[in-house]
Amino acid sequence: MPAELSPIDKAKYVSARRAVDFVEDGMRVGLGTGSTAAWMVRCLGELVREDGMMITGVATSTRTADLAREVGITVKTLDEVRWLDLTIDGADEFDPNLNLIKGGGGALLHEKIVATASDQMIVIADLSKEVDRLGTFPLPVEVIPFGWQTTKALIEEMLSNVEVLGRAASLRLNGSEPFRTDEGNFILDLHLRRISNPAQLSLVLNQIPGVVENGLFLDICDILVIGNADGTVEVR
Ligand code: 5RP
Repeated sequence: MPAELSPIDKAKYVSARRAVDFVEDGMRVGLGTGSTAAWMVRCLGELVREDGMMITGVATSTRTADLAREVGITVKTLDEVRWLDLTIDGADEFDPNLNLIKGGGGALLHEKIVATASDQMIVIADLSKEVDRLGTFPLPVEVIPFGWQTTKALIEEMLSNVEVLGRAASLRLNGSEPFRTDEGNFILDLHLRRISNPAQLSLVLNQIPGVVENGLFLDICDILVIGNADGTVEVR
């Protein structure tokens, strides 16, 4: 373990380290995005450099692709690989059914495509991400820039017909400019506080023209690896 880690980084590191035990020689692995996933990429890099493991990585963001190459992982596109054995990624929230909110790092679209193209998805997280019901973390929704204010208004109108506690949507910013995803799209963060029916919400959101994808990952996560600051790990 790297020396001098803060308690939260230690929790992230131990979950990432445990998750790479699921990776076998020759696997095609989806590489998530975010600070927890970055630990996982570094751990995988160690397996490649020190144990000679052959791994092909498909990155969910340019950030992750850059890091993966830096640590010695062969990176290919999803179109080159087509199907993956495993994806390991972080999450912003997880509930008791292993449903997730993702997209805090703005990579939800590529993350969902890659996770869906994988035989298994392993989520790595610390206990601060656990909730009884999804919705405390603002739900990211990727929208195309054309007509985004109309899309936002349509989303807010739709939210009055679903069971949520909050209904405000805000455009994610990067300084004074809109944050741009790797696809050049914008992100609207929905401040819902409590989502009673995530499956219904996901369906209706994705029916709105201008919405590309939302950050609800439902029935996609197979295994959850929770790291704690004391170095212990729980696998669910
Ligand atoms: C990026 C994501 C991340 O997995 C999520 O935001 C968790 O990030 P972190 O591990 O830094 O807390 O969905 O789009």
